[in-house]
Amino acid sequence: MKIVVISPSARSLETIGAYLREEAAGRDIVLAEGGMGKLRAVAEQQRPDVLIVDGMCRDVEELGPLEYVTIHHPRTMVVMLCSNHTPEFLINAMRAGVKEVLPAPATRESLRAAIARIAAKQGAGQARPPGQILAFIACKGGSGATFLATNLGWQLAAAGESVLLIDFNLQFGDAVLFLHDRKPEQNLADVARNVQRLDASLLAASLVRVAPNYGILAAPEDPGQAMEVKPEHVDALLGLAVANYRFVVVDVGRILDAVTLRVLDKADRIFPVLQTTLPFMRDANRLLTVFRSLGYAAEKIGLVVNRYEKSGDLTLADVERTLGIGDIRTVPNSYAAVAAAVNRGTPIAKVARGNPVARAIEDFAQPLVPQPEAAAGWLERLLKRA
Ligand SMILES: Nc1ncnc2c1ncn2[C@@H]1O[C@H](COP(=O)(O)OP(=O)(O)O)[C@@H](O)[C@H]1O
Ligand SMILES: [Mg+2]
Repeated sequence: MKIVVISPSARSLETIGAYLREEAAGRDIVLAEGGMGKLRAVAEQQRPDVLIVDGMCRDVEELGPLEYVTIHHPRTMVVMLCSNHTPEFLINAMRAGVKEVLPAPATRESLRAAIARIAAKQGAGQARPPGQILAFIACKGGSGATFLATNLGWQLAAAGESVLLIDFNLQFGDAVLFLHDRKPEQNLADVARNVQRLDASLLAASLVRVAPNYGILAAPEDPGQAMEVKPEHVDALLGLAVANYRFVVVDVGRILDAVTLRVLDKADRIFPVLQTTLPFMRDANRLLTVFRSLGYAAEKIGLVVNRYEKSGDLTLADVERTLGIGDIRTVPNSYAAVAAAVNRGTPIAKVARGNPVARAIEDFAQPLVPQPEAAAGWLERLLKRA
């Protein structure tokens, strides 16, 4: 269970935090300093099971953000801590969907009892699992990382999943151009600048929508804007992203700076993309060495050899031996079809369906998407048992 406490007072935040750590040990507890203006963003970035709102019980007019949270995130139970409130306020708070109003300053006992009541009510419901973060990184420029990231996103969306692609190539990001031909109105730097009030609707409004369930957050427009994106923005943005999208595909730059490392840390899988010539292999080796020194598990890394040709100078076995990694994914070379897709800003699945590259991307997506139970399951089960 995740509990978030929001209060304009750092002191009461500290006290409530200390009580919760004692009385609700084992829970994930986050403390956020701020008032009603910050409430919606905190709720949407953190997606808590319990949101404790302290010191905001004066004005009935101010209950708007609270009502928004209870309507749009019914899994989040809101508890208010109030020192003096009018009966009118109490009625309006309940109308706004607040589950409990407790006296402030809070006591250990009242907090423990409220959390226990909510835990008992929530016990039956299962929380929605967070989305998966899939990171693509080029071992060397021109590997095909952006092409594969954008087109895999398309394939996952075509399978009915909600997909967000974030272009973290802060200096020369170009992901949008692979699927779209217009200039984005908003980008990652705008989102970083507004991170204090970032919520699901602001994020959605900042995307270039390439399909109803596939949005792209474009890279900053110039290096000046790029400097506005800081590692702490990554946490807020990815937290919100996984709470709202089933797949979060990230295209990251090759420069391993603080932002890139923060993104890679948060990724569930990292797909380094290379080709089978020596300069790519050398840089792939360096990248894998860095990943090992960062303590990334071997299962987190999924090497992709792009533009693979069986008759090439270096074979897949050479790559496996040199890099010490088995189980490498390959995507064939198909210059004309890929160039046509890229030049038109259209997914390859649309331009050249059935092309070997399009099929390889389908195969890439397929195991990532949970498969529904087979319709004829009972017969299969019967045969298996026999
Ligand atoms: N499988 C492929 N077959 C042929 N050409 C490809 C393939 N994948 C990528 N390309 C070409 O390589 C170019 C560079 O790809 P890009 O995704 O921008 O690389 P990166 O992001 O790694 O720098 C693309 O514009 C595309 O034309
Ligand atoms: Mg790229």
